Amino acid sequence: MFTGSELRKKFLDFFDQQGHLILPSASLIPQDDPTLLLTVAGMVPFKPYFQGKARPPHTRLATVQKCLRTPDLDSVGKTTRHHTFFEMLGNFSFGDYFKKEAIAWAWEYLTNVLGLPREDLWITVYREDKEAKQIWAKGMGVPGERIVPMGEDDNFWAAGPTGPCGPCSEILVDLGPARGCGAPDCGVDCDCDRFLEIWNLVFMEFNRDEAGNLTKLPRQNIDTGMGLERIASVIQGASSNFETDLLFPLIKKAAALSGLSYGENQKHDVALKVIADHSRAVAFLVADGVLPSNEGRGYILRRILRRAVRYGRLLGIEEPFLSKITASVIDLYEDPYRELREEEEYIQKVVALEEARFGETLEQGLQVLQDDLEELERKGERRLPGRVAFRLYDTFGFPLELTQEILAERGLTVDLAGFEEAMQEQRERARAARLEAAPTSRQGIWDTYRDFKTDFQGYGSLTAKAQIQALVCDEAEQQEAREGGQVQVLLDLTPFYPEGGGQVGDRGILKGPDGEVVIQDTKKVEENLIIHQGYVSRGLVRKGDVVLAQVNEKRRLATARNHTATHLLHQALRSVLGEHAQQTGSLVEPTRLRFDFSHFAPLSQDELRAVEDLVNQKIIENIAVRTCETGREEALAEGVIALFGEKYGDIVRVVGIGDFSKEFCGGTHVRRTSELGFFKILTESGIGTGIRRIEALTGEGLLAYWREQDALIGKAVAFLKATPEALPGRIEQLLREVREKEKELEQLRQKMMRFEVDALLNHVVDVDGIKVLAVKVQAPDMESLRSLGDLLKHRIGSGVIILGSPLNGKVGFVSFVTNDLVTREGLHAGNIIREVARIVNGGGGGKPEMAQAGGKNPTRLDEALRQGKEIIRHQLTGKC
Ligand code: SER
Repeated sequence: MFTGSELRKKFLDFFDQQGHLILPSASLIPQDDPTLLLTVAGMVPFKPYFQGKARPPHTRLATVQKCLRTPDLDSVGKTTRHHTFFEMLGNFSFGDYFKKEAIAWAWEYLTNVLGLPREDLWITVYREDKEAKQIWAKGMGVPGERIVPMGEDDNFWAAGPTGPCGPCSEILVDLGPARGCGAPDCGVDCDCDRFLEIWNLVFMEFNRDEAGNLTKLPRQNIDTGMGLERIASVIQGASSNFETDLLFPLIKKAAALSGLSYGENQKHDVALKVIADHSRAVAFLVADGVLPSNEGRGYILRRILRRAVRYGRLLGIEEPFLSKITASVIDLYEDPYRELREEEEYIQKVVALEEARFGETLEQGLQVLQDDLEELERKGERRLPGRVAFRLYDTFGFPLELTQEILAERGLTVDLAGFEEAMQEQRERARAARLEAAPTSRQGIWDTYRDFKTDFQGYGSLTAKAQIQALVCDEAEQQEAREGGQVQVLLDLTPFYPEGGGQVGDRGILKGPDGEVVIQDTKKVEENLIIHQGYVSRGLVRKGDVVLAQVNEKRRLATARNHTATHLLHQALRSVLGEHAQQTGSLVEPTRLRFDFSHFAPLSQDELRAVEDLVNQKIIENIAVRTCETGREEALAEGVIALFGEKYGDIVRVVGIGDFSKEFCGGTHVRRTSELGFFKILTESGIGTGIRRIEALTGEGLLAYWREQDALIGKAVAFLKATPEALPGRIEQLLREVREKEKELEQLRQKMMRFEVDALLNHVVDVDGIKVLAVKVQAPDMESLRSLGDLLKHRIGSGVIILGSPLNGKVGFVSFVTNDLVTREGLHAGNIIREVARIVNGGGGGKPEMAQAGGKNPTRLDEALRQGKEIIRHQLTGKC
C-alpha cells in the first residue's frame, strides 16, 4: 500500500524514466488566460504550448498539478469521489509521442508499478477512434468486452469552451459488485460507485475557436490526467477518497472539534466530508493569492468557505473553527506545497476574518430564511422569490448557491430569473452612479483615425514642434477653430502624456502661428491615438498648422514624483505586509496619489509607519530611476511586477528603482528618488472586501499640506496663547475646566429651580377644598416644563398643577393631578389641559395623572390659566 506522497513520487519517477522533464505545480490562478478562472486540469498551464503559441521547455513534461473545479460543488461530500480541490498526476507530449506510448505507459504504470490486477481495469474509447481501440486490444491485450466505445459527451475532452481539445480514452477500475447499484445494465457508464474512472488520456489534436470550429493543432499532443485522490483510494483499499491518508486526517480533526465520530450518522459524515474537502480548497486558494469577494474566483472562494462554515454549524460547532482545519491542511500538505507554510499566517488570518464576517450574519440570515420558508409553506408555494434570495445574498452574504442548497434540502427552489433581475437592478444603480461621475466621451468622432499613430515623445522632452492633423470642435471635425471654441486636437507627434496607468493626462499649451490652444487634458482614444482636449485661448488654429506643443512642466514633474512614489509604496507594502499586497488600482495626480491594493485587514499604526519609513528611506538613498524596454517573458521571468489582469504587449517598458522595485509601467517618472522630497501617508481605509486604499503626498503637495497644518496650529496657538508644545496640555486643561463649570452650572440650576418651586407654591389656591396651582412660568422647552411640574407635584402632596409657558411664540402647557385625587375625585389631567389649551387655540391631552398641550395664542395665556380653576371646579361638581 502506498501513501499519497509515495504515489506522487512514483508517478513522477516513472515518467522521469521515460524522458519527461518534471515541473512543479503551477498556481491555481491561470496566468494570462482570460478564458479560465481557475486551473481545472494539469494541462491548463501548458495551453500555449499545445496551441503552438509558446515553446515548452521540453517536449515531454510530467507534473502533479493543484486543480480546482466547482461544477460538482453540490455533490461534494455526498459522493465518494467528488472534490473541489484535487491533485492531478499528468504526463504531456508536445508533438513528441502520441497514442501508442501514452497508452502503453499508462498501462505499465498501473499494472506493473502499482500492481493493479489487469482484469479489474476497463477502458473507454471515443467511438470514432479505431486506432486507440486497436492499441488497447492488440498492444495491451485488453479483452474486447472491456474496451467500451463512447460518444462525444464522454470521450471528447476540452479544458473550456475554447482552446485545445481532442478525443480521449479513459481507464476505469472495477471496484466489484458490492460497490455497485446491482442494476442489470450496470457498466462503465453507470453513475454508481462500482466503476471508478481513474485516468484520462487525451489525444490533443484540435483547437476550438470562439465560433466552435475545430481546427487541427500544429502538432499531435498528449495530455493525461489521473486524480491522485482516486488512485489513492484504490491503492489504499479505501471505500471513498475521503478515507485515504490525503483527507482522512482532516475528517478526524473536524470530528474532534464537533465531538462527533465519523461513520455513525450519514448526515454528519456528509458534513465532515464537506469540511475536509473545502478546507483544502480554501487553504490552497488563499495561498495562491485569491481573496474572498463577490466576483470571479474570489466568489468561488467565498462560496466554498461559507459552505464549509454552514456545514460546521450543522454539526453543532458554534465557534469559529475553519482556521483550525486549515491549520491541519497546512501540516498535511506543506510537503510538497511549501507555499502553504510560507503563507501560513496570511491564510489563517484571511480564513478567520471571512468566517467571522459570515458568522456575524449567518444566524440572522438563517432566521430570515426560516421565516420566509414558513411563509412559503403557508402559502403552499415551492419557489422562493428571487428578491428574497437576493436580500440574503446582498445583506447576509449568503451565496446564491448556499440558499439553493438549503432550499433543496426541503425540495424547494429559487426563482433564478427574479434573483438575476434584482442583481441587474443593483448593477444598474451602481452603473448610473458611475456614469454620473464620468465625463462624456466623444470617442466615436475619432473612429476614422483609429489606425493613426501619434508619436509620443514625452518621456524625453516636454516641448515639441508638431503639426495639427485634425481638429474637432462642436462635435464634428473642422478645418479651423476660433477663440473661445472647445477643441480636441490630434497632432502627428506629442510630448503630452495621455491619461493611463493611473496617471492623469498632461496639461499645457499649443502655440500656433495665429493663435493658441490651452490643453486641459490628454487622453488615448486608441492605443496610439492621442487626443488633446482644451479651448482656443487666442486667435485661431487650423488643421495643418505647425504648433509648439508645451507641457505644463511644473504639473508634469509633480505628477512624476507621485508616480515614482506609487512604485515605492507598492514595493514597501509588499515588503512590510507580504507579497499578497498587490496593486488593484491607482490614481496619480500632481497634488496627491491614491493607491489601492489587496490586503485583508486595516493596517496597524506600526505597519503604516514601517511602510512610510521604508519609502522615505528609499528617497533619502537617492536611487536612480531607470527605464528600459525588454521582452515581456524575459521581464516576467526576472520577477518584474506586472499588474494582475493587465494586458501587456511582447515588448514592455520596465521602470526600475535600483534593486528595490521593478514594474511594468508606461508612466512618467523622476530621475532620482530624492526628487520626491518626502513622502507621507494621509489616510488608509477599506474600499471593499480585501481591498485597502492609501492616500499619500510627496514634494510640493506635502509642503502645502504641512503649511496648512502649521497654519492650523498657529491659529490654535494664537487662540490659546500657548506654545505649540503646550497645546495638548492647554486643551486638556480647558476641557477639564469646561466640565467643572458645567457641573457648577447644573448645581446652580437645581438650586434656582428649588427657589422657583418655593415661590410658585405661594400661588396655590383652594378650589372646593382642593389645592390648585395654575401659574405662568418661563420655561426654555417642554422638557423643563415637565420637570418643573413633576417637582411641584411632589412638593404639593395632594393637588392639581397647571403650568403654562410662552414657547417660541406659542404656548406650552403641562398638567399634573396627584394620584389620590385621580382616585378619590375622578380628576383627569388630560381632560383639564384639553379645555385649558382650547382657550389659546390649541389642543392636547394625556393620562389622568399627567398631560401636556400646546397653543397658538400666547396673549390669552393668563386668561387660560385663570379659567383653569373654573374648569377644575366644573369637573369636581360635574362628577357626581
Ligand atoms: N485534461 C484531461 C482531464 O482533465 C486529462 O488530464 O481529464
